[in-house]
Amino acid sequence: MRRFVVIGQKATASPDFSLLDIAGTSGRLDVLLRCIRAALLVSHGLRGDTVLYLVLLGGPRAPRALRIEGSIVRFLRPDERTLGVLLQKALSVPSGEDVAGAGAFVPLRRGISVVDGGLEAVLHDIGPATYYVLEEGAPDVRGARLDVENPVFVLGDHQGFDPPTRARLAEIQAAALGLGPVSIHTDDAITVVSNELDRRLADRGANPAPAPRS
Ligand SMILES: C[S@@+](CC[C@H](N)C(=O)[O-])C[C@H]1O[C@@H](n2cnc3c(N)ncnc32)[C@H](O)[C@@H]1O
Repeated sequence: MRRFVVIGQKATASPDFSLLDIAGTSGRLDVLLRCIRAALLVSHGLRGDTVLYLVLLGGPRAPRALRIEGSIVRFLRPDERTLGVLLQKALSVPSGEDVAGAGAFVPLRRGISVVDGGLEAVLHDIGPATYYVLEEGAPDVRGARLDVENPVFVLGDHQGFDPPTRARLAEIQAAALGLGPVSIHTDDAITVVSNELDRRLADRGANPAPAPRS
């Protein structure tokens, strides 16, 4: 199982953004939408071995986090508008105070859940695992020792990481990994890491082939 956690510093946790201008009205939720495609969708397939968490720290309903599970999610499409509609619906559910099981992830539809909480709620949901933080300038992922069975990769958005997130990641001893000399977009960073894991699994004779998309 591989997991990605993307921290959206300003990405809205409320549904009140315009689908006609997602980038301009949602605290750059578009960055996170592209991460859904990068983490979970491949050509004509879905990565059943991947879970994506989106931490939404912007807007009046923050903090909230979404969890999308590749093994069970259905009808995920690669285009940004369709993904925007999906998140808008997901964020329209009442806040945790009104929902049974507040503090835990609440299923919204198959494979998609929401929690009232930020990184802490996500770390609690994941539990013990090998944590990595993707950081420009850190030791290169190529040649690094990697836990390919149970890794969690934490990534920043277009603004990188805020100091509290950075401090918490240091506290849990997330190992810093770099992806080469150029700062790339978050979704591209996910693609590079996924490719690295695919290659390592293939080298071991494991089959990382994704399931057909439904
Ligand atoms: C667009 S970058 C963030 C740029 C931001 N202006 C900053 O200075 O932190 C988005 C995220 O992708 C990951 N990332 C991008 N390029 C990377 C690289 N070369 N090595 C490791 N991680 C990278 C990091 O997690 C980063 O926070």
